Amino acid sequence: MKILSVVGARPQFVKLAPVADAITAAGAEHVIVHTGQHYDPLLSDVFFDDLAIPSPDVHLGVGSGSHGKQTGAILAALDDVLAAHSPDWVLVYGDTNSTLAAAVSAVKMHLPLAHLEAGLRSFNRAMPEEHNRVLTDHAADLLLAPTQVALGHLRDEGLADRTVVVGDVMTDVLYRTRGRADPLPGAEEAVVATIHRAENTDDPERLAAIVAELAGLVAGGRRVLLLAHPRLRAKAAAAGIDLTAGGVEARDPLAYPALVATVAASQGVVTDSGGLQKEAFLLQVPCTTVRTETEWTETVDLGWNVLVEPGGIAAAAARPRPADVDAAPYGTGDAAERAVAALADHLPR
Ligand code: UD1
Repeated sequence: MKILSVVGARPQFVKLAPVADAITAAGAEHVIVHTGQHYDPLLSDVFFDDLAIPSPDVHLGVGSGSHGKQTGAILAALDDVLAAHSPDWVLVYGDTNSTLAAAVSAVKMHLPLAHLEAGLRSFNRAMPEEHNRVLTDHAADLLLAPTQVALGHLRDEGLADRTVVVGDVMTDVLYRTRGRADPLPGAEEAVVATIHRAENTDDPERLAAIVAELAGLVAGGRRVLLLAHPRLRAKAAAAGIDLTAGGVEARDPLAYPALVATVAASQGVVTDSGGLQKEAFLLQVPCTTVRTETEWTETVDLGWNVLVEPGGIAAAAARPRPADVDAAPYGTGDAAERAVAALADHLPR
């Protein structure tokens, strides 16, 4: 069996790590294509190094651009790559522009397409990721869903017969990485914050309100470690917003093992990242999510995650620690093996 993975953005490298291991363990052939959507060493190379991911076989080097330009550049570049490798499966991950471009490319080339992390829905049609994941799910031949909730969404859309629930591969990698690095100094007194989504970064008024609330947490006696995605830095600079106002400590994004260690040691998380909501839940750290909805609804239902609008961050971040839970909605750390087994079981003849 020959699997061709297409990845391009930070969360996809994290998901690729356990999948690459499982593909090797299954004795299958693996071709890794990096689109170049993320290119900063801190958003790309460190993940390959720290998580021991094999170097990409192909690098498309598309870089940043508007949605259409970025998606189109990946789509144009993939034709020759897919034709040259002619894999049994094109495997795409999550919901980025790299995911959608690779999905469209595969189906146009009549190559079997599998979608890992299928069935997540925010039902927010203003999010670019929602379109990326819906379109990819409907194009794919095999849907590898992380949860029962995701299966329910796929069933509602008539896609249940193409779906296998395998668990969440980010849970696999988190369990394997926990304890492998030291937290940032001071993490024990800190709230770890990340803000990078367009809906929070691109409206200066909203961004200013969020940053002011983070400063308010510092005034209330907490340290705030703001791990700043390049998009956040760029948008804040353009709007004249000082990310360090009021004593907020703005840092570069962390490598994955250091992120896991820092979150595990921290008092709580304030974020708009999907992955980080789940990582906080798995590490039993309370999370406050600055969004109107989440794809990872189990984190909210089980009491470890609260959705807020700007204005609600301070109160949510100060809430009492929730009750411990032993539910495991994201699987037990073997999702990647199960995903590769599903690919083998459903190999198109
Ligand atoms: C992308 C994904 C998002 C995911 C996020 C993880 C889409 C539509 N969005 O958002 O789902 O949660 O990755 O980080 O695919 N930039 C750099 N260096 C880089 C990459 C980006 O400076 O290596 C800056 C550029 O100014 C760029 C901006 O960040 O325009 C946005 O990057 P982009 O890849 O378009 O989207 P993300 O916001 O990272």
